Amino acid sequence: MSVEALPAPVRTDVPTDFPVGFVWGAATAAYQIEGAAAEGGRTPSIWDTFSRTPGKVRNGDTGDIAADHYHRYREDVALMAELGLGAYRFSLAWPRIQPAGSGPANEAGLDFYDRLVDELLAKGITPVATLYHWDLPQTLEDAGGWLNRDTAYRFAEYATIAARRLGDRIPTWTTLNEPWCSAFLGYGSGVHAPGRTSPAEALTAHHHLLLAHGLGVGALRAELPATAQVSLTLNLAAVRPLSTEPADLDAARRIDGLANRIFLDPVFRGSYPADVLADTAEVTDWAFVHDGDLAEISRPIDSLGINYYTPTVVAADDPEHPAPRQDGHAGELSPWPADTGVRFLPAEGSRTAMGWPVDADGLYELLTRLRDDLPGLPLLVTENGAAYDDYSDPSGAVHDPERVAYLHGHLDAVRRAAADGVPVRGYFLWSLLDNFEWAYGYSKRFGMVHVDFASQRRTPKDSARWYAEVIRTGRLPR
Ligand code: NOJ
Repeated sequence: MSVEALPAPVRTDVPTDFPVGFVWGAATAAYQIEGAAAEGGRTPSIWDTFSRTPGKVRNGDTGDIAADHYHRYREDVALMAELGLGAYRFSLAWPRIQPAGSGPANEAGLDFYDRLVDELLAKGITPVATLYHWDLPQTLEDAGGWLNRDTAYRFAEYATIAARRLGDRIPTWTTLNEPWCSAFLGYGSGVHAPGRTSPAEALTAHHHLLLAHGLGVGALRAELPATAQVSLTLNLAAVRPLSTEPADLDAARRIDGLANRIFLDPVFRGSYPADVLADTAEVTDWAFVHDGDLAEISRPIDSLGINYYTPTVVAADDPEHPAPRQDGHAGELSPWPADTGVRFLPAEGSRTAMGWPVDADGLYELLTRLRDDLPGLPLLVTENGAAYDDYSDPSGAVHDPERVAYLHGHLDAVRRAAADGVPVRGYFLWSLLDNFEWAYGYSKRFGMVHVDFASQRRTPKDSARWYAEVIRTGRLPR
């Protein structure tokens, strides 16, 4: 299917379901789409190493070629323009821009993002850049990675290089994407690079990532025009206790602490939550927190990005009546940095191809909670979407009614939240393209545009046409 024959542009004289100026976007990340892993002076990242480690990524897939976006970015930007996207969220690959992880910039790497940004601007699409979407230069990993406090300072140096070169044309910058995954999947359960399994290390990495965020905000502010927006993207959990029993409420408190307040409190209040420090006291003494770190971490930011996929239902652990863990975690080590005494239960409802329950209310709950906890802070849904087992039919079409239903429900949750006073300013669909889904390799397809990885042919799925129509009208189908 082609999206070339879309009807006329957005009307501005009729009311829409979303706030005035609402930003409609799609998101990707460098390692998941770019490919060209050894071109233009790029060096390996921890994901190149991890994906080459037997048993870590399904089918032994790597990001060597991915969606070949490095070579096909013009075609991809043309597709975005046909879909009517107002903004595109992508990440910069640190090992492309600063191949040694410190020291000189790589002109060829910066040139690629120059070309991409210029192409976006030429089509009227606002670039939204993330500095770190998990691809740490391997040289920094060799020096200790996120366990080494120095990595945070190296991140600030990299932020300076990127902002100096691209800051005149990129209005919105995000320091980190989902640092929970970098810390707790990378160092706790080990299912993400660098694949370590130590609760104490997960907390050390967590703090150094937040320090990198704070130092990065400072570096960005020093380079960017005063009008630039600086942000952070978190995968906060919509935590629900199974019941109102005190033990289940306490389970919810613990996970809210370890998934949400362990980020929100340092970033927005300049302190770690006392209950989280107590809950993790057997794991670490938090000696990696130095004087002045929390002042750095709590530098003001202009908005918060939220990535949401599914809610988190918890109950007190009950050894007598063990409950199945949420799909996707069976047999894996826990990513949580302490013995939480918590059971994770699946929410009701249908599941995506990831096994994640579909539950749009969780997004509404999260957005309204942030409205109440962080009054006035602009929010962006920087990721939301679903994987399904999409395929191209004999006519070449890709019908994905489940994704359309998923998007419809979640956009309606955003609409309701905005109507209830949540300052939500935009929505970025994950993802523009089918891509490398980390430990799942290419086996999971999140794109609204299908990619045939053998030919690199792009085919907009039905959901892309559906989303284009929502963008065009500003309304959800009734
Ligand atoms: C969050 C991550 O930021 C993104 O890289 C990933 O592909 C999606 N979630 C789906 O798992």
